[in-house]
Amino acid sequence: LIYLDNAASTAVHPDVVKEMMPYFDVEYGNPSSIHQFGRKAKNAIQKARKQVAALVGAEPGEILFTSGGTESNNTILNGIVKLQGSEPDQNHIITSSIEHEAILRPCKEFENTGIKITYLPVDEHGIVNPDDIANSINSHTVLVSIMFANNEVGTIQPIKEISEICKKYQIPLHTDAVQAVGKIPINVKDLGVDALSISSHKINGPKGIGALFIKKGLRVSPQILGGGQENGMRSGTENVASIVGFGKACEIAKERLNENISHFQTLHSTMLSRVIKEIPHVKLNGHSEKRIFNNIHLTFLGVNGEDLIIKLDEHGIAASTGSACSMHTQKASHVLKAMGFNHEQITGSLRMSFGYLNTLDEVEQTIDVLKRVVSELRSVSPYKTKYNF
Ligand SMILES: Cc1ncc(COP(=O)(O)O)c(C=O)c1O
Repeated sequence: LIYLDNAASTAVHPDVVKEMMPYFDVEYGNPSSIHQFGRKAKNAIQKARKQVAALVGAEPGEILFTSGGTESNNTILNGIVKLQGSEPDQNHIITSSIEHEAILRPCKEFENTGIKITYLPVDEHGIVNPDDIANSINSHTVLVSIMFANNEVGTIQPIKEISEICKKYQIPLHTDAVQAVGKIPINVKDLGVDALSISSHKINGPKGIGALFIKKGLRVSPQILGGGQENGMRSGTENVASIVGFGKACEIAKERLNENISHFQTLHSTMLSRVIKEIPHVKLNGHSEKRIFNNIHLTFLGVNGEDLIIKLDEHGIAASTGSACSMHTQKASHVLKAMGFNHEQITGSLRMSFGYLNTLDEVEQTIDVLKRVVSELRSVSPYKTKYNF
């Protein structure tokens, strides 16, 4: 079996599992308890907070543990909007049209209450124009939220440039960095962002845990009230084992960052050069350089991406459309649509995403299978004559 869907989720690293185990059956105290069981759990959380902070260049006190990327995104959006009081039309948020649903869905909800949202367009590579941000800011703008790396096509946004604009107008900038963390160097101070979302299960940590970096001094209204855990920002007894695992995953991601980047680049360039050479009518989507290299998103003209995934699965290869369009459901990817793709280009898309466990041999095997299955699917494609397959 070849797993090429690491943008969806990753295998938990064995060292992470090892680190987590004692917190289920030995160190099971409540971190709020005063006795030594409690103190040990609390210390473990503080250690993890440092590990997460170190990966993104933050201070430990700027890290809020959440249940993952979705909650981190919702927390910053709701936490900023709630601060503005009861007049929704006094709020304006700027985001992009290619964000993950964990930004877009809350924004749609906000619109129902009268809050104004600007969804910025992207170019054909999926990149936001920073000038559009400057031109969209008005006196009611309370937040700019632009994702770091896109989960479908892997394009990286000019976050530093965007942060300079936001700083000029004194508007807080949040970035959903769920797909970028562990794939490129990230330092929140150098970038100048005010908030940043991270998810553990994308970096070989456990699922259901993540973090929101909130820059010291940025006011964010707490969303879950109760016993006052997480500095009053997120009440509820902490998920100690998962926090510990997430911390370890961040430590490993930091140690292995350069090694992983060059590994992903090797897999990416091998896959791309062979596929382009050996399969006709294929195109790389997203930007060729401004991208995370663990992601390769391709369009095979005349092929339905979902049929391709099923065929690959029959050969033991796990890939994804990256929530792209299906010829059957007619539900097109909002990301590819925003990039100006037509229906045929959208349906023929396939996302493969690498993890540290993938090998060059697996990539070579996948290319061999791809050649066969693409050719099989094209032989029965409605576009057969159009492209002379
Ligand atoms: C860009 C992006 N943001 C947010 C999320 C949601 O993260 P989680 O699964 O941790 O809630 C994902 C997950 O796919 C993602 O890719």
